[in-house]
Amino acid sequence: MAALAVPFRSSASAVFDSAAKVFRLDGDGVTYAFGVDSAGQLQSLHWGGALQADDVLPAAPKAADYSGFDRANSVTPLEYVGFGGGLAIEPSLKVSYPNGVRDLVLKYASHTVSADGIVVRMKDVSTEVYVDLRYAMDKATGILARSAVVENKTRSWIRVDQMAAATLNLPFAEDYELQYLTGRWAAEWTLQKRPLEVGETVLESRMGMTGSQNNPWLAISREGLTDEEDGPVWFGALAWSGSWRITVDKDIVGHPRVTAGYNPFDFGYRLKPGETLETPVFYAGYSDKGMGGASRLMHRFQRSVILPNAPTPKLRPVLYNSWEATEFAVDEAGQIALAEKAATLGVERFVMDDGWFGKRNNDRAGLGDWVVNTEKFPKGLGPLISKVRGLGMEFGLWVEPEMVNADSDLYRAHPDWVINFKDRPRSEGRNQMVLNLARKDVRDYILKSLDLLLRENDIAFLKWDHNRSWSEPGWPEMAAEDQQKIYVDYTKNLYWIFAELRRRYPKLEIESCAGGGGRVDLGIMHLTDQIWPTDNTDPLDRLKMQDGFSHAYMPGVMMAWVTASPNWVNKRSTSLEYRFLSSMQGCLGVGDNLNHWVPEDFATAKRMIEAYKSIRQTVQRGDLYRLVSPQGGSERSVTLSVSEDKRQAALFTFLHSSSTFDATPIIQLRGLDPELRYGFREIAGKADTDTPATASGAYWMNHGIRVPLRGDFQAAGIVFEAV
Ligand code: DGJ
Repeated sequence: MAALAVPFRSSASAVFDSAAKVFRLDGDGVTYAFGVDSAGQLQSLHWGGALQADDVLPAAPKAADYSGFDRANSVTPLEYVGFGGGLAIEPSLKVSYPNGVRDLVLKYASHTVSADGIVVRMKDVSTEVYVDLRYAMDKATGILARSAVVENKTRSWIRVDQMAAATLNLPFAEDYELQYLTGRWAAEWTLQKRPLEVGETVLESRMGMTGSQNNPWLAISREGLTDEEDGPVWFGALAWSGSWRITVDKDIVGHPRVTAGYNPFDFGYRLKPGETLETPVFYAGYSDKGMGGASRLMHRFQRSVILPNAPTPKLRPVLYNSWEATEFAVDEAGQIALAEKAATLGVERFVMDDGWFGKRNNDRAGLGDWVVNTEKFPKGLGPLISKVRGLGMEFGLWVEPEMVNADSDLYRAHPDWVINFKDRPRSEGRNQMVLNLARKDVRDYILKSLDLLLRENDIAFLKWDHNRSWSEPGWPEMAAEDQQKIYVDYTKNLYWIFAELRRRYPKLEIESCAGGGGRVDLGIMHLTDQIWPTDNTDPLDRLKMQDGFSHAYMPGVMMAWVTASPNWVNKRSTSLEYRFLSSMQGCLGVGDNLNHWVPEDFATAKRMIEAYKSIRQTVQRGDLYRLVSPQGGSERSVTLSVSEDKRQAALFTFLHSSSTFDATPIIQLRGLDPELRYGFREIAGKADTDTPATASGAYWMNHGIRVPLRGDFQAAGIVFEAV
């Protein structure tokens, strides 16, 4: 099984004050501390801005019952709490024993503190059930990684009914607001905000996959104190691509806390004597620089720790993808015609999407049969790939390895390989079923099919799709009481396949796509290089979605194609330049049917792609400032990406529609070096005529720039460069 935790290159200092029994982690700008109280419980003591090294945190106080109804364990900010001893709030861990006992009271047993962090071993008061709580903090971002491992050292099995990576307590305050992301297919990444009241808010997926309905990310800010650029924000994300749950609650005395881990709904994992279960990692951070500061920390953390090639992930090439041009009607001549045109634009990677294998002429057949369709490609993929390589591009291929159509050789041979309940109907979604990757034979078949494809063909990139969620989550070959292990073992095997492919083909790059943004999380991000955030390619809808996405994930993985106008989603017409500018906020791709383009389109696209290449390092690796948010019906939106060395900044400004001859508001930049002088160049649109040719960073940030936009769906792109 692939390890779930990602090691940090540089961990924050971890110390234990043995007199006060206080553990402490100090990263840049953040301190996290917890202590052992007199009853042996672990209490949270501090999570927030950095304390001085010589500040002494008081020992954890004695926990007291609030009343006979509200026991100490339900009203004390505990680090990890078992369901037992009368617990009335969300447990971190719940287990059952064969004799019917369902009571777990965890007490401190021992600990280790090392350069990598802290591990605290907890033990149940009556049985040999142990839990290791792992803490590590990334020094540069102060982002804390928490996970847990339960170990059964009893002489019979125990069943884990519910298990979180962590419970995190926020400082006691009344005015918290919760922000999180919701969505649905083609409408992902909607930012939600609500006050944190007494009671529980549940963010979750029960679908065997991350899901776009809720993304496993959240931020908690303080009403009136926090805005985009100022004020405290606590944030977190769960690195898990299966069913998950994050609960945010405020107990009856007002303690706010977050508990994140496996979704307990329909969960159950039996452990034999000696066995362990590890949780995914919950990453949690703090910023006092508002929502913008929080997301910049998260982005920095992703590029320096999470991505497969961190801390120097490769820049995303400009790609062409055939899906919206041809759908399933791919063949050698048609793909070559598109590739020849794409190459003239400056495209660096040509990706053939769905339709190239088995009997895949529509979405009713072929999934599972990963052999080239010889009616469409009589000599295999070789001639197309040679052509693409000859045109100076890399070749990429679409696959959807976890799925099978009933109309496929694979399903005919192995109907037992899909997730199903014995003698029950098997629901289909997009005419397909989900293979049970938890099974070793299925896991090995998938690896073998992909390995063959990659060995025989010069493939630089796989777009890994996943177009439905689970149903009937059974594993009939397992004993009834062990079938729910599928929720853990499937995802671990998925990670194993990714890791194994990357080991065998170190240059291979992979995109995580799930009919759009259905599987985006820090777990899959550790094994893939880029993400397809949504099937919705309308450039205006995208602005909002890209804004939502950027709260949790970095623009440097967010693929954004320029496709046809009117757009297939909503029939909205926009200019090619507008579409390019919208896509240039992330990783640029083209997905239109180039056979329909006129010479002016080619000229525009070539110019925009060249301009993108001149700023891509800044957009993909720089710091993002959301200057004007497109959320909440705003007519305008503005983003600014500033390079790590602050010598370049890329400004994108968009107008939905202007209703009167309104004055163009001034845009004040952020994040520049106030003392450096910057000139500017226009990628598209024009700055006001009286804009100085060069000015200091202080001028652009404190005075600003006007970029007039009038009409519907207008946009401009301006690049600032140190002179
Ligand atoms: C869903 C993806 O999101 C699309 O981009 C495309 O690859 C289709 N699947 C192909 O079936």
